[in-house]
Amino acid sequence: FKTIDALNAQGARVLLRADLNLPVRDGRITDLTRIERLAPTIRELVGKGAKVIVCSHFDRPKGQRVPEMSLKPMATALSEVLGQPVAFADDCVGPDAEAAVAAMKDGDVLVLENTRFHKGEEKNDPALAQGLAKLADAFVNDAFSAAHRAHASTEGVARILPAYAGRLMQAELEALDAALGSPQRPVAAIVGGAKVSTKLDLLGNLSAKVDVLIIGGAMANTFLAAQGADVGKSLQEAEMHDTAREILEKAKARGCEVILPVDLVAAAEFKANAANTVVPANAVPAGQMALDVGPASVAAVIAKLAECKTLVWNGPFGAFEIEPFDKATVTVAQEVAKLTEAGKLASIGGGGDTVSALRHAGVAERMTYVSAAGGAFLEWLEGKELPGVAALNA
Ligand code: 3PG
Repeated sequence: FKTIDALNAQGARVLLRADLNLPVRDGRITDLTRIERLAPTIRELVGKGAKVIVCSHFDRPKGQRVPEMSLKPMATALSEVLGQPVAFADDCVGPDAEAAVAAMKDGDVLVLENTRFHKGEEKNDPALAQGLAKLADAFVNDAFSAAHRAHASTEGVARILPAYAGRLMQAELEALDAALGSPQRPVAAIVGGAKVSTKLDLLGNLSAKVDVLIIGGAMANTFLAAQGADVGKSLQEAEMHDTAREILEKAKARGCEVILPVDLVAAAEFKANAANTVVPANAVPAGQMALDVGPASVAAVIAKLAECKTLVWNGPFGAFEIEPFDKATVTVAQEVAKLTEAGKLASIGGGGDTVSALRHAGVAERMTYVSAAGGAFLEWLEGKELPGVAALNA
């Protein structure tokens, strides 16, 4: 793919696909990370004299104009982060957008209204893609986190205008390539989370690519139970036992070492500070549930990571939202940060929950790279081609 190094930006109208799908609660933006990570691309384009026309989706308005899903608050937030005025157009295509673009001077920034207010966005309607393309001379995609969607503003328009990867897209792709494309071996993956069933493709793809697969979270219960362990009333998927065994066999046949917990922290209820004990992983007492992996498991994971050169991490080890069941996640995360800082490990994390867990552990800034993407990061771990990225490479 071409980066913005190849773009002659001076005086050009640049359509920049951003991901302004920010978390909002009670009408307020609760986390500016995505804007902060987008800002360098905008500053660079502005510095080179481009007219930067930002487009994005926000939430899922399903082709309707839903006022609560306007991108106007994001334009204001962007202006504050950039420290420069940001104009806003009430539509992403048509006369409003065209007039707003016509009024721009070199170095100006404009945000267009939510692309998903048009039904054509999610249908990847060529008419909408043409409407967007008409506004600009070049297209820059900086929305890796929306690249798993083949939509008009991610895929369609990239096939019409000369298309480039922005700095955030570039950073994401480079980090992911360092993790699984051409990594330093041995490579370990930590996969946690609640369900095996939602991570089947991911586990399958990772077991083919990594040397060590470390399984945590409630999904570990399913693997343990599939091997005959007593998991008490732990969360698990009984209908996935055959599948779990197949995953383990396949991994073994591929020479991928799978590490499951050897001990667990069990409690009678899912509650902060619930009374708990450390139990062997094959013997959770009846009436109790595993809420975290235990200290012997943590020690084994840490010892294994010390032998590895690359780590990709998706999913927490335990119920990290409630103390003290965040302990395994936090302890391993801090060790990962130390190994990373010592230059011994390249560590890449991503996917919704994982980012909150790493932040909770205070290590998000200390890892080699933490992806800003949720679903796109997962699809990439599944080995799927992301349409938004494929269109940049076309
Ligand atoms: C995300 O937040 O993961 C992206 O913005 C994609 O959003 P979507 O799942 O609504 O397509």
